[in-house]
Amino acid sequence: MKNIAKIFQQGETVVKGEEAMQLLGKRLAGELEAGDVLGLVGELGAGKTRLVQGILDGLECEQAGTSPTFSIVHEHTDGRLPVAHFDLYRLKRPDEALQIGWDEYLASGMVLLVEWADRFGGELLPKETVWMQIERLGETTRRVRIQQAARQTH
Ligand SMILES: Nc1ncnc2c1ncn2[C@@H]1O[C@H](COP(=O)(O)OP(=O)(O)OP(=O)(O)O)[C@@H](O)[C@H]1O
Ligand SMILES: [Mg+2]
Repeated sequence: MKNIAKIFQQGETVVKGEEAMQLLGKRLAGELEAGDVLGLVGELGAGKTRLVQGILDGLECEQAGTSPTFSIVHEHTDGRLPVAHFDLYRLKRPDEALQIGWDEYLASGMVLLVEWADRFGGELLPKETVWMQIERLGETTRRVRIQQAARQTH
């Protein structure tokens, strides 16, 4: 991760509308480096997938980022950096992640974008994870907060 402090003043930013979320994703993409792990946290419909779509767009990936809920992981390898986009929502046990190659992904140097990263108390995510919490403030307004190099606790 290069410099995300310039995107998040005091560790947060308020996003007004979907287009602004897309733009935030594009700006984040410009700061990403190989091996970065983003842990995305927020209720159903918070905008995690929308943010990922912006990141993929910023990395110039061709395939639109559809939600990987049913397949757990989607790979996007045609952009500036290879990305694996996860959605842990449907996992019942952490070892199900291991079955789909979680450890290999962690070691792969791909950028990992992980929806529902707080599943199982965040235990699957490495300590260098950049956590990003999306909160719904209104119909189309969201607050995005970052927490770097600290494990999310509830
Ligand atoms: N500012 C905004 N940013 C992102 N999404 C917004 C915003 N305003 C409205 N929306 C709407 O909120 C929804 C966000 O959906 P999205 O699939 O990104 O959520 P999610 O956090 O990935 O949910 P899930 O937990 O189901 O994966 C979309 O329907 C989108 O149109
Ligand atoms: Mg989603």
